[in-house]
Amino acid sequence: MKKKFTILLINGPNLNLLGSRENEIYGNISLPQLINKLQKYSKKYFIKINHIQSNAEHVLIEEIHRSKKKVDYIIINAAAFTHTSIALRDALLAVKIPFIEVHISNIYSRENFRSHSWISDISNGVICGLGIDGYKWALKTAIKRLYKKNNQ
Ligand code: DQA
Repeated sequence: MKKKFTILLINGPNLNLLGSRENEIYGNISLPQLINKLQKYSKKYFIKINHIQSNAEHVLIEEIHRSKKKVDYIIINAAAFTHTSIALRDALLAVKIPFIEVHISNIYSRENFRSHSWISDISNGVICGLGIDGYKWALKTAIKRLYKKNNQ
């Protein structure tokens, strides 16, 4: 039987408003619709997705702590915490779970303060500016890497 991998998908502050928030930047699809699509895709590959969205930094940090040795890969859109949170960076470093950073918008073409991420340099890849498709590309990559690692 195939090993079942677990991926933790993290969405930071204000992403609960996807589909109604600044549609010209973030599109029209709601967060539940997006998660549903990703869940459907991941089932084909025996992947379990744990999803968390929170507007509170400590909630995300505690979820990362809980994931140690339980989660195989993380996909994270830390939203505004990307640009502010050394605590989130430290949590990701502490658990040593490989992760891909995702942003729906192109953070480099917006206000200057969005150009800096506290987590990019410790990530295993960054996707930004592809709209919500970025999550699917991150998921595809995580799955590919997990299966490759398992077959070595
Ligand atoms: C975002 C970009 C961030 O700068 C912003 O604070 C967000 C969303 C994105 O997905 O494009 O909330 O992470």
